[in-house]
Amino acid sequence: MNFPKMRPRRLRKNQYIRDLVRQTSLSADDFMYPIFVTYEDHKRPIQSMPGIFQLPLEEAKKEAKEAFDIGIKSVILFGIPQKKDEFGSCAYDENGIIVKAIKEIKDFVPDLIVAADACFCEYTSHGHCGVIDKNGYLLNDETLELLKKEAYVYAKAGADIIAPSGMIDGMVGAIREALDENNFKDTIIMAYSAKYASSFYGPFREAAQSAPAFGDRKSYQMDYANAYEAIKEIELDIEEGADIIMVKPALSYLDIIRMVKDRFFYMPLAGYSVSGEYSLIKAAAQMGWVDEQKIVDEVLTSIKRAGCDIIITYFAKEWIKNNSLLK
Ligand code: PBG
Ligand code: ZN
Repeated sequence: MNFPKMRPRRLRKNQYIRDLVRQTSLSADDFMYPIFVTYEDHKRPIQSMPGIFQLPLEEAKKEAKEAFDIGIKSVILFGIPQKKDEFGSCAYDENGIIVKAIKEIKDFVPDLIVAADACFCEYTSHGHCGVIDKNGYLLNDETLELLKKEAYVYAKAGADIIAPSGMIDGMVGAIREALDENNFKDTIIMAYSAKYASSFYGPFREAAQSAPAFGDRKSYQMDYANAYEAIKEIELDIEEGADIIMVKPALSYLDIIRMVKDRFFYMPLAGYSVSGEYSLIKAAAQMGWVDEQKIVDEVLTSIKRAGCDIIITYFAKEWIKNNSLLK
C-alpha cells in the first residue's frame, strides 16, 4: 500500500528545505519606522510603549541615522508641538516642530526617505483631526484648506512623502493640488486610505499627546465592522492621486489587507502595525508569557504575507537587530 501519496511534511523536514520553499520573507527594506519629535529639550519615555520615546530634535536626528545605518530606508515623523490651538496652527507653521525635523533629518541623513504624517490631532486643543464646529463635529472642507497648507510646508521643508492620516474626504486630491500648484510634483502621497476607528491607537495617543478631549473619531475613521467600505475609500484615494495606499491597523485587519492587495495589486500597499499592537506584545513579553523575538517575527511576517509591501512598525529596529546577522 502506498498511502498517503502526498506527504506535505517532506517539505518541512529541516530548516534548509523550509527555507527553500518559503513563500514570504522579511527584510529591512520592508519597514518604515515611526519617530516622535518633541519641541522639549529632553527625551521622554512613553510609558505604554517600552523602548519608544518622544525625542528632541537632536536625538531624533541620531535616531534617524541609527535606523538608516542598520538598513531602514524610511521613517515617518509625528510632532509634539509647543502649543495647541483650535485650528492646530503649529501643524502648518513654517517654524513648526515637524518642519524643523524634516529639514534637519534630511540634512543629516539625505538618503533616508522622510515621510511626514499630515493631520491635526497632535496640534489642536480639542485633539480632533481638523477643525470642528460648536457641536464638536469635524468640518470636512475647512479642514482640507488647512491640510493643503500643512502638506505644502512639509514638502517645502523637504519631506519625500506626505501621509495624510485624518480620513477627511477629499484629502488626497486637495493635497495633490496644493503640491502640484507649488511645483512639488514629485512629492509622494501615502494615504491612510482605510483607517479604522480603533482602540489599538490608545498608546499612540499617549505618545503623541493627541487623545480627543471629548467624543471619539467615529465620524471620520471607519467602522471596524465594515470590510467593503475599504474598497470605496481606496478607489477614491487612487482616483485622487495617491501613490501609496494604506490599511490601518494591521493585525486585526489582515482580511482587509488581503482583499485590498488582490483588488489593487498594482498599488504599493502599506500596513500600519499600530501602537496597541506593539504594546500588547511588549506587555505579554515583559510578563514572560510570550517569546518576544519570535512573536514579532511571526506578526510582521503575517502582515507581509497578507499583502503589504511596506510595514510601518515600532519593531523595525528591533527586528533588524535580531535577524540581520542570521540572514
Ligand atoms: C493621527 C494618527 C494616529 C495614528 C497615526 N496617525 C492616531 C489616531 O488616529 O488617533 C495611530 C498610530 C498608532 O497607534 O501607532 N491621525
Ligand atoms: Zn489625526
